[in-house]
Amino acid sequence: MEARAKVPKGLAGISVTDTSIAKSEADGTLLYRGYSIEEIAANAGFEETAYLVLNGSLPKRAELEAFESGLRARSVVDGRIFGIMKELGAGAHPIDVLRTAVSALGSIDREQDVKGQQLSVEAKMPVLVANCLRVPRGGRPLEPQAGEGFAGGLLRMLTSREASDYERWAFERVLIFYMEHDLNASSFTVRVVASTLADPYAAASAGLAALKGPLHGGANEGAMQMLLEVKEPSAAVQYVDDAFRDGRKVTGFGHRVYKEFDPRARLCKGYLKEMLKRRGEDDRLYRLCDTLEAEMWKRKRLPPNLDYYAAPIFYLLGIDIPLYTPIFAASRVFGWMAHYSEQVSENKLIRPDATYVGPTGQRYVPLDAR
Ligand SMILES: CC(C)(COP(=O)(O)OP(=O)(O)OC[C@H]1O[C@@H](n2cnc3c(N)ncnc32)[C@H](O)[C@@H]1OP(=O)(O)O)[C@@H](O)C(=O)NCCC(=O)NCCS
Repeated sequence: MEARAKVPKGLAGISVTDTSIAKSEADGTLLYRGYSIEEIAANAGFEETAYLVLNGSLPKRAELEAFESGLRARSVVDGRIFGIMKELGAGAHPIDVLRTAVSALGSIDREQDVKGQQLSVEAKMPVLVANCLRVPRGGRPLEPQAGEGFAGGLLRMLTSREASDYERWAFERVLIFYMEHDLNASSFTVRVVASTLADPYAAASAGLAALKGPLHGGANEGAMQMLLEVKEPSAAVQYVDDAFRDGRKVTGFGHRVYKEFDPRARLCKGYLKEMLKRRGEDDRLYRLCDTLEAEMWKRKRLPPNLDYYAAPIFYLLGIDIPLYTPIFAASRVFGWMAHYSEQVSENKLIRPDATYVGPTGQRYVPLDAR
């Protein structure tokens, strides 16, 4: 038998493709199309960043307006999708409802070409996300409103609370951070599906399936539940002690790439502090996050990731916890579609090999003789 190249478990540290979309590095660098995440966060809006991620360059004004109007024109969701969401019932997790809705869209949407299909999924995400908890519980579907941007419209639909300008700005930053992250598990999944030349709806549904897991997108929901459980900064050290003693992972810490710090988490930590300051509220939640962070670094040099600091921001904005992972998806879909396009532009079916370590030479034994 010919010898085959073996790679580390989880493909850790293995480059499996070239990409010019984004790059994260162990030292805490993150680039979107060559721009640092700090540069983007300080200057760009959501749609501008989405255009950059999808097309490779910042849009000129007319290009941005055309992109925004393309999204707005496709933002309304067919009533049959809400009917399917409702059928899933109040017990369904919103991320499952969202995945089912995106999958159903593939049968219902009438977009003819791949670009239109990609834009359609992207454009409908705010409405699908805003309804994936309320509609299965019997609520009336929320609709987009004229003149709203992607982030502003999504936030309006997600919460009945009136957000301040700073809160809206911070929410938009968090969405921008969730947009793209090179070969994370869901984007790799999307590339595998794209490599079979399945359509963008199929690829986005698969991305959503990968995103659900607590080791990936599900971590923001888990991080908030943990913060609520720990509650007091004074209980943080004991919580970490117990977790290590029981061999449990602490949600929101660690990253496959970042070993020093996650630049997105660092920026979000600043937004969290500023939000609390501007609201004139007790900063207990911030102190709790900070104490847990210091303890995790002391114990194992594990930095917090984006999910850890996105979660308390969503919480302060008054968003229901089961919607945190769907919000991640609303933004990541742009990254997924950038990967879809990059994959099909120089396509080769992704079909690796496995080393067979099972038995050989087995003989069939009839059912009644086993
Ligand atoms: C993100 C994650 C999956 C990366 O995994 P990975 O690159 O495969 O790294 P490993 O899980 O092998 O972790 C390496 C070591 O750090 C430990 N570790 C990693 N994350 C940890 C966490 N959150 N809490 C406690 N220990 C952790 C592992 O137990 C392992 O320890 P060991 O070498 O003594 O066995 C992992 O850090 C994790 O599960 N984090 C929690 C979930 C999370 O926040 N996910 C969102 C990611 S953005």
